[in-house]
Amino acid sequence: MDDLNRLRSKILDGIGAAADEAALEDIRVSAVGKKGEVALKMRELGRMTPEERQVAGPALNALKDEVNSAIAAKKAGLADSALDERLRTEWLDVTLPGRPRAQGSIHPVSQVSEEVSAIFADMGFSVAEGPQIETDFYNFDALNIPPHHPARQEFDTFYMHRDEGDDRAPHVLRTHTSPVQIRHMEKHGAPCRVIAPGRVYRSDYDQTHTPMFHQVEGLAIDKDLSMANLKWVLEEFFSAFFGIEVKTRFRASHFPFTEPSAEVDIQCSWVNGQLKIGEGDGWMEVLGSGMVHPKVLIAAGVDPDKWQGFAFGMGIDRIAMLKYGIPDLRAFFDSDLRWLRHYGFAALDVPTLHGGVSG
Ligand code: PHE
Repeated sequence: MDDLNRLRSKILDGIGAAADEAALEDIRVSAVGKKGEVALKMRELGRMTPEERQVAGPALNALKDEVNSAIAAKKAGLADSALDERLRTEWLDVTLPGRPRAQGSIHPVSQVSEEVSAIFADMGFSVAEGPQIETDFYNFDALNIPPHHPARQEFDTFYMHRDEGDDRAPHVLRTHTSPVQIRHMEKHGAPCRVIAPGRVYRSDYDQTHTPMFHQVEGLAIDKDLSMANLKWVLEEFFSAFFGIEVKTRFRASHFPFTEPSAEVDIQCSWVNGQLKIGEGDGWMEVLGSGMVHPKVLIAAGVDPDKWQGFAFGMGIDRIAMLKYGIPDLRAFFDSDLRWLRHYGFAALDVPTLHGGVSG
Protein backbone atom coordinates (compact mmCIF):
# COMPACT_ATOMS: atom_id res chain seq x y z
CA MET A 1 0.00 0.00 0.00
CA ASP A 2 2.90 2.36 0.67
CA ASP A 3 3.94 1.69 -2.85
CA LEU A 4 0.62 2.83 -4.13
CA ASN A 5 0.69 5.93 -1.96
CA ARG A 6 4.10 6.88 -3.27
CA LEU A 7 2.93 6.36 -6.84
CA ARG A 8 -0.19 8.43 -6.11
CA SER A 9 1.73 11.40 -4.74
CA LYS A 10 4.27 11.20 -7.55
CA ILE A 11 1.57 11.33 -10.21
CA LEU A 12 -0.50 14.01 -8.47
CA ASP A 13 2.62 16.15 -7.88
CA GLY A 14 3.46 15.79 -11.54
CA ILE A 15 -0.02 16.89 -12.54
CA GLY A 16 0.18 19.86 -10.22
CA ALA A 17 3.50 20.94 -11.70
CA ALA A 18 2.58 20.41 -15.39
CA ALA A 19 3.20 23.72 -17.13
CA ASP A 20 1.11 23.12 -20.25
CA GLU A 21 -1.22 20.69 -21.96
CA ALA A 22 1.61 18.80 -23.65
CA ALA A 23 3.32 18.07 -20.33
CA LEU A 24 -0.02 17.06 -18.88
CA GLU A 25 -0.61 14.63 -21.75
CA ASP A 26 2.82 13.05 -21.17
CA ILE A 27 1.90 12.48 -17.56
CA ARG A 28 -1.48 11.02 -18.50
CA VAL A 29 0.14 8.51 -20.86
CA SER A 30 2.81 7.41 -18.41
CA ALA A 31 0.37 7.22 -15.47
CA VAL A 32 -2.98 5.89 -16.70
CA GLY A 33 -2.19 5.08 -20.35
CA LYS A 34 -2.42 1.45 -21.58
CA LYS A 35 1.19 0.79 -20.62
CA GLY A 36 1.28 3.32 -17.82
CA GLU A 37 2.31 2.76 -14.24
CA VAL A 38 -1.23 2.09 -13.00
CA ALA A 39 -1.77 -0.48 -15.73
CA LEU A 40 1.47 -2.21 -14.75
CA LYS A 41 0.28 -2.38 -11.18
CA MET A 42 -3.02 -3.86 -12.33
CA ARG A 43 -1.13 -6.62 -14.06
CA GLU A 44 0.36 -7.58 -10.69
CA LEU A 45 -3.17 -8.33 -9.37
CA GLY A 46 -3.00 -11.77 -11.03
CA ARG A 47 -0.13 -12.81 -8.80
CA MET A 48 -1.85 -11.77 -5.56
CA THR A 49 -3.85 -13.83 -3.14
CA PRO A 50 -7.61 -13.28 -3.37
CA GLU A 51 -7.52 -11.30 -0.12
CA GLU A 52 -4.76 -9.01 -1.30
CA ARG A 53 -6.53 -8.56 -4.61
CA GLN A 54 -9.72 -7.51 -2.88
CA VAL A 55 -7.92 -4.60 -1.31
CA ALA A 56 -5.52 -3.70 -4.14
CA GLY A 57 -8.07 -3.90 -7.00
CA PRO A 58 -10.46 -1.19 -5.78
CA ALA A 59 -7.51 0.91 -4.60
CA LEU A 60 -6.00 0.87 -8.07
CA ASN A 61 -9.34 1.69 -9.70
CA ALA A 62 -9.82 4.53 -7.26
CA LEU A 63 -6.32 5.80 -8.04
CA LYS A 64 -7.04 5.68 -11.75
CA ASP A 65 -10.25 7.67 -11.29
CA GLU A 66 -8.53 10.16 -9.06
CA VAL A 67 -5.71 10.70 -11.56
CA ASN A 68 -8.14 11.12 -14.43
CA SER A 69 -10.17 13.72 -12.64
CA ALA A 70 -7.04 15.54 -11.41
CA ILE A 71 -5.87 15.68 -15.04
CA ALA A 72 -9.27 16.97 -16.21
CA ALA A 73 -9.26 19.65 -13.53
CA LYS A 74 -5.71 20.67 -14.32
CA LYS A 75 -6.50 20.78 -18.02
CA ALA A 76 -9.41 23.14 -17.43
CA GLY A 77 -7.15 25.30 -15.27
CA LEU A 78 -4.47 25.43 -17.95
CA ALA A 79 -7.01 26.42 -20.60
CA ASP A 80 -8.35 29.17 -18.37
CA SER A 81 -4.93 30.61 -17.74
CA ALA A 82 -4.00 30.34 -21.44
CA LEU A 83 -7.13 32.34 -22.20
CA ASP A 84 -6.32 34.83 -19.46
CA GLU A 85 -2.84 35.21 -20.91
CA ARG A 86 -4.18 35.85 -24.42
CA LEU A 87 -6.69 38.33 -23.14
CA ARG A 88 -3.90 40.10 -21.30
CA THR A 89 -1.46 40.24 -24.23
CA GLU A 90 -3.62 40.32 -27.35
CA TRP A 91 -5.65 43.39 -26.72
CA LEU A 92 -6.38 46.01 -29.27
CA ASP A 93 -7.03 49.68 -28.78
CA VAL A 94 -9.90 50.25 -31.16
CA THR A 95 -9.87 53.94 -30.37
CA LEU A 96 -6.47 54.44 -32.09
CA PRO A 97 -6.65 56.32 -35.40
CA GLY A 98 -6.20 54.14 -38.52
CA ARG A 99 -2.94 54.08 -40.47
CA PRO A 100 -3.15 56.27 -43.56
CA ARG A 101 -2.75 54.37 -46.83
CA ALA A 102 -1.25 55.87 -49.95
CA GLN A 103 -3.95 56.03 -52.60
CA GLY A 104 -3.25 55.86 -56.32
CA SER A 105 -5.13 57.77 -58.98
CA ILE A 106 -6.27 57.09 -62.52
CA HIS A 107 -3.94 58.71 -65.07
CA PRO A 108 -5.64 61.28 -67.32
CA VAL A 109 -4.68 59.20 -70.38
CA SER A 110 -6.47 56.16 -68.95
CA GLN A 111 -9.45 58.25 -67.95
CA VAL A 112 -9.73 59.91 -71.36
CA SER A 113 -9.27 56.57 -73.20
CA GLU A 114 -12.22 55.25 -71.22
CA GLU A 115 -14.29 58.32 -71.98
CA VAL A 116 -13.49 58.07 -75.70
CA SER A 117 -14.34 54.37 -75.79
CA ALA A 118 -17.64 54.96 -73.97
CA ILE A 119 -18.72 57.67 -76.43
CA PHE A 120 -17.79 55.70 -79.54
CA ALA A 121 -19.33 52.53 -78.11
CA ASP A 122 -22.60 54.44 -77.91
CA MET A 123 -22.28 55.13 -81.65
CA GLY A 124 -21.78 51.42 -82.38
CA PHE A 125 -17.98 51.30 -82.51
CA SER A 126 -16.14 48.46 -80.82
CA VAL A 127 -12.52 48.49 -79.65
CA ALA A 128 -9.79 46.83 -81.74
CA GLU A 129 -6.16 46.30 -80.77
CA GLY A 130 -2.83 45.71 -82.45
CA PRO A 131 0.80 45.22 -81.41
CA GLN A 132 3.04 48.17 -80.52
CA ILE A 133 5.98 46.48 -82.24
CA GLU A 134 4.85 46.29 -85.86
CA THR A 135 6.32 45.07 -89.10
CA ASP A 136 7.05 47.79 -91.60
CA PHE A 137 4.42 46.14 -93.80
CA TYR A 138 1.55 47.01 -91.45
CA ASN A 139 2.96 50.34 -90.34
CA PHE A 140 3.81 51.55 -93.88
CA ASP A 141 3.45 49.36 -97.00
CA ALA A 142 -0.13 48.24 -96.42
CA LEU A 143 -1.04 51.87 -95.72
CA ASN A 144 0.15 52.86 -99.17
CA ILE A 145 3.52 54.13 -97.93
CA PRO A 146 6.01 52.14 -100.05
CA PRO A 147 9.72 52.02 -99.18
CA HIS A 148 11.49 55.32 -99.95
CA HIS A 149 8.18 57.20 -99.82
CA PRO A 150 8.91 60.61 -98.25
CA ALA A 151 6.18 59.99 -95.64
CA ARG A 152 8.42 57.37 -94.04
CA GLN A 153 10.88 60.12 -93.14
CA GLU A 154 8.16 62.37 -91.71
CA PHE A 155 7.36 59.80 -89.05
CA ASP A 156 10.73 59.81 -87.18
CA THR A 157 10.42 56.08 -86.85
CA PHE A 158 12.15 53.94 -84.24
CA TYR A 159 13.48 50.85 -85.96
CA MET A 160 14.08 47.66 -83.99
CA HIS A 161 17.65 46.43 -83.87
CA ARG A 162 18.43 43.58 -86.26
CA ASP A 163 21.41 41.29 -86.13
CA GLU A 164 23.35 40.88 -89.29
CA GLY A 165 21.88 38.05 -91.36
CA ASP A 166 18.47 38.34 -89.68
CA ASP A 167 16.10 38.08 -92.62
CA ARG A 168 12.82 38.51 -90.79
CA ALA A 169 10.64 41.43 -91.85
CA PRO A 170 11.96 44.69 -90.39
CA HIS A 171 10.11 45.73 -87.24
CA VAL A 172 9.35 49.25 -86.01
CA LEU A 173 7.67 50.75 -82.97
CA ARG A 174 4.38 51.69 -84.57
CA THR A 175 4.35 55.37 -85.44
CA HIS A 176 0.54 55.57 -85.48
CA THR A 177 -2.50 53.41 -84.74
CA SER A 178 -3.37 53.13 -88.46
CA PRO A 179 -1.83 49.62 -88.84
CA VAL A 180 -4.72 48.38 -86.67
CA GLN A 181 -7.01 49.33 -89.62
CA ILE A 182 -5.25 46.72 -91.76
CA ARG A 183 -5.13 44.07 -89.07
CA HIS A 184 -8.79 44.51 -88.27
CA MET A 185 -10.02 44.38 -91.89
CA GLU A 186 -7.77 41.41 -92.67
CA LYS A 187 -9.36 39.48 -89.85
CA HIS A 188 -12.96 40.66 -89.87
CA GLY A 189 -13.52 42.11 -93.35
CA ALA A 190 -16.26 44.63 -94.07
CA PRO A 191 -18.53 46.17 -92.93
CA CYS A 192 -16.90 47.33 -89.72
CA ARG A 193 -16.92 50.12 -87.17
CA VAL A 194 -14.00 50.17 -84.73
CA ILE A 195 -11.78 52.45 -82.72
CA ALA A 196 -8.23 51.48 -81.73
CA PRO A 197 -6.75 53.41 -78.82
CA GLY A 198 -3.14 52.78 -77.87
CA ARG A 199 0.48 53.81 -77.61
CA VAL A 200 2.50 55.05 -80.56
CA TYR A 201 6.15 56.10 -80.86
CA ARG A 202 8.12 58.76 -82.69
CA SER A 203 11.58 60.10 -82.10
CA ASP A 204 10.59 63.60 -81.03
CA TYR A 205 10.75 65.54 -77.75
CA ASP A 206 9.62 69.05 -76.79
CA GLN A 207 6.76 70.74 -74.95
CA THR A 208 4.15 69.23 -77.26
CA HIS A 209 5.91 66.01 -78.31
CA THR A 210 7.05 62.95 -76.38
CA PRO A 211 8.68 59.87 -77.95
CA MET A 212 5.74 57.77 -76.74
CA PHE A 213 2.22 59.13 -76.90
CA HIS A 214 -1.34 57.92 -77.44
CA GLN A 215 -3.65 57.90 -80.40
CA VAL A 216 -7.10 56.60 -81.07
CA GLU A 217 -7.79 55.35 -84.56
CA GLY A 218 -11.29 55.25 -86.00
CA LEU A 219 -12.40 53.10 -88.92
CA ALA A 220 -15.84 52.69 -90.46
CA ILE A 221 -16.37 50.69 -93.64
CA ASP A 222 -19.73 50.11 -95.28
CA LYS A 223 -21.49 50.40 -98.66
CA ASP A 224 -22.10 54.11 -98.81
CA LEU A 225 -20.27 55.96 -96.08
CA SER A 226 -19.03 59.44 -96.95
CA MET A 227 -17.14 62.42 -95.52
CA ALA A 228 -20.52 63.66 -94.28
CA ASN A 229 -20.80 60.64 -91.98
CA LEU A 230 -17.25 61.29 -90.78
CA LYS A 231 -18.08 64.89 -89.94
CA TRP A 232 -21.24 63.90 -88.08
CA VAL A 233 -19.46 61.20 -86.06
CA LEU A 234 -16.64 63.59 -85.09
CA GLU A 235 -18.97 66.42 -84.09
CA GLU A 236 -21.08 64.01 -82.04
CA PHE A 237 -17.91 62.78 -80.41
CA PHE A 238 -16.43 66.18 -79.57
CA SER A 239 -19.71 67.53 -78.26
CA ALA A 240 -20.11 64.52 -75.97
CA PHE A 241 -16.47 64.62 -74.92
CA PHE A 242 -16.32 68.33 -74.10
CA GLY A 243 -19.90 68.50 -72.86
CA ILE A 244 -20.71 71.45 -75.14
CA GLU A 245 -21.67 71.64 -78.80
CA VAL A 246 -18.39 71.74 -80.76
CA LYS A 247 -18.10 72.74 -84.43
CA THR A 248 -15.40 71.19 -86.59
CA ARG A 249 -13.50 72.60 -89.54
CA PHE A 250 -12.12 70.31 -92.24
CA ARG A 251 -8.94 71.46 -93.99
CA ALA A 252 -7.75 69.65 -97.10
CA SER A 253 -4.60 67.70 -96.33
CA HIS A 254 -2.68 64.67 -97.49
CA PHE A 255 -2.17 61.20 -96.05
CA PRO A 256 -1.07 58.32 -98.28
CA PHE A 257 -3.76 56.06 -96.77
CA THR A 258 -6.78 58.34 -97.27
CA GLU A 259 -8.20 60.06 -100.34
CA PRO A 260 -9.47 62.70 -99.97
CA SER A 261 -7.77 63.60 -96.68
CA ALA A 262 -8.60 66.26 -94.15
CA GLU A 263 -7.12 67.67 -91.01
CA VAL A 264 -9.82 68.51 -88.53
CA ASP A 265 -9.88 71.53 -86.22
CA ILE A 266 -12.31 72.16 -83.38
CA GLN A 267 -13.77 75.51 -82.55
CA CYS A 268 -12.17 77.36 -79.65
CA SER A 269 -11.40 80.76 -78.21
CA TRP A 270 -8.42 82.22 -76.42
CA VAL A 271 -9.50 84.84 -73.88
CA ASN A 272 -6.88 86.26 -71.49
CA GLY A 273 -4.66 83.28 -72.10
CA GLN A 274 -7.49 80.87 -71.35
CA LEU A 275 -8.54 78.31 -73.91
CA LYS A 276 -12.24 77.59 -74.26
CA ILE A 277 -13.46 74.79 -76.51
CA GLY A 278 -16.74 75.13 -78.42
CA GLU A 279 -16.93 78.91 -78.61
CA GLY A 280 -15.26 81.86 -80.36
CA ASP A 281 -13.66 82.02 -83.77
CA GLY A 282 -10.35 80.26 -83.18
CA TRP A 283 -9.55 76.75 -84.40
CA MET A 284 -7.39 74.04 -82.89
CA GLU A 285 -6.09 71.06 -84.86
CA VAL A 286 -6.98 67.74 -83.24
CA LEU A 287 -6.84 64.96 -85.83
CA GLY A 288 -6.13 63.64 -89.31
CA SER A 289 -8.78 61.84 -91.32
CA GLY A 290 -10.17 60.97 -94.72
CA MET A 291 -11.82 58.35 -96.90
CA VAL A 292 -9.87 55.08 -96.75
CA HIS A 293 -7.70 54.78 -99.88
CA PRO A 294 -8.71 51.94 -102.23
CA LYS A 295 -5.14 50.60 -102.11
CA VAL A 296 -5.47 50.26 -98.32
CA LEU A 297 -8.70 48.30 -98.70
CA ILE A 298 -7.02 46.01 -101.24
CA ALA A 299 -3.99 45.50 -98.99
CA ALA A 300 -6.37 44.43 -96.23
CA GLY A 301 -8.36 42.11 -98.50
CA VAL A 302 -11.47 44.28 -98.83
CA ASP A 303 -12.98 44.88 -102.29
CA PRO A 304 -12.93 48.64 -103.01
CA ASP A 305 -15.63 48.23 -105.66
CA LYS A 306 -18.04 47.11 -102.97
CA TRP A 307 -16.90 48.91 -99.87
CA GLN A 308 -15.82 52.35 -98.81
CA GLY A 309 -15.46 54.23 -95.57
CA PHE A 310 -13.64 56.74 -93.45
CA ALA A 311 -10.76 56.67 -91.00
CA PHE A 312 -9.32 59.11 -88.53
CA GLY A 313 -6.45 59.30 -86.05
CA MET A 314 -6.58 61.54 -83.01
CA GLY A 315 -4.10 62.32 -80.24
CA ILE A 316 -5.49 61.15 -76.90
CA ASP A 317 -2.96 63.10 -74.84
CA ARG A 318 -3.78 66.19 -76.90
CA ILE A 319 -7.53 66.06 -76.19
CA ALA A 320 -6.84 65.21 -72.53
CA MET A 321 -4.75 68.39 -72.27
CA LEU A 322 -7.55 70.41 -73.87
CA LYS A 323 -10.32 68.99 -71.72
CA TYR A 324 -8.55 69.08 -68.38
CA GLY A 325 -6.39 72.17 -68.89
CA ILE A 326 -3.03 70.40 -68.65
CA PRO A 327 -0.30 72.66 -70.05
CA ASP A 328 2.75 70.46 -70.68
CA LEU A 329 2.62 67.12 -72.44
CA ARG A 330 5.94 65.93 -71.03
CA ALA A 331 4.55 65.91 -67.48
CA PHE A 332 2.16 63.13 -68.56
CA PHE A 333 5.01 60.67 -68.52
CA ASP A 334 7.21 61.99 -65.68
CA SER A 335 5.50 59.86 -62.99
CA ASP A 336 5.61 62.86 -60.65
CA LEU A 337 3.31 61.96 -57.75
CA ARG A 338 2.28 65.57 -57.15
CA TRP A 339 1.21 65.86 -60.78
CA LEU A 340 -0.62 62.54 -60.65
CA ARG A 341 -2.46 63.57 -57.48
CA HIS A 342 -3.45 66.87 -59.02
CA TYR A 343 -4.54 65.69 -62.47
CA GLY A 344 -5.39 62.06 -61.65
CA PHE A 345 -8.90 60.74 -61.18
CA ALA A 346 -10.43 58.75 -58.36
CA ALA A 347 -11.10 55.13 -59.23
CA LEU A 348 -14.83 55.69 -58.91
CA ASP A 349 -14.99 58.62 -61.34
CA VAL A 350 -16.73 56.49 -63.92
CA PRO A 351 -16.72 58.13 -67.34
CA THR A 352 -20.18 59.05 -68.49
CA LEU A 353 -21.59 59.58 -71.97
CA HIS A 354 -22.01 63.28 -71.50
CA GLY A 355 -18.25 63.36 -71.07
CA GLY A 356 -18.16 64.86 -67.62
CA VAL A 357 -16.73 63.31 -64.53
CA SER A 358 -18.57 63.95 -61.34
CA GLY A 359 -16.82 65.77 -58.52
N1 PHE B 1 -2.18 58.05 -88.92
C1 PHE B 1 -2.24 59.47 -89.08
C2 PHE B 1 -1.20 60.11 -88.14
O1 PHE B 1 -0.74 59.49 -87.25
C3 PHE B 1 -3.59 60.02 -88.74
C4 PHE B 1 -4.66 59.52 -89.66
C5 PHE B 1 -5.34 58.36 -89.35
C6 PHE B 1 -4.98 60.21 -90.82
C7 PHE B 1 -6.35 57.91 -90.19
C8 PHE B 1 -5.95 59.77 -91.67
C9 PHE B 1 -6.63 58.61 -91.36
O2 PHE B 1 -0.85 61.22 -88.29
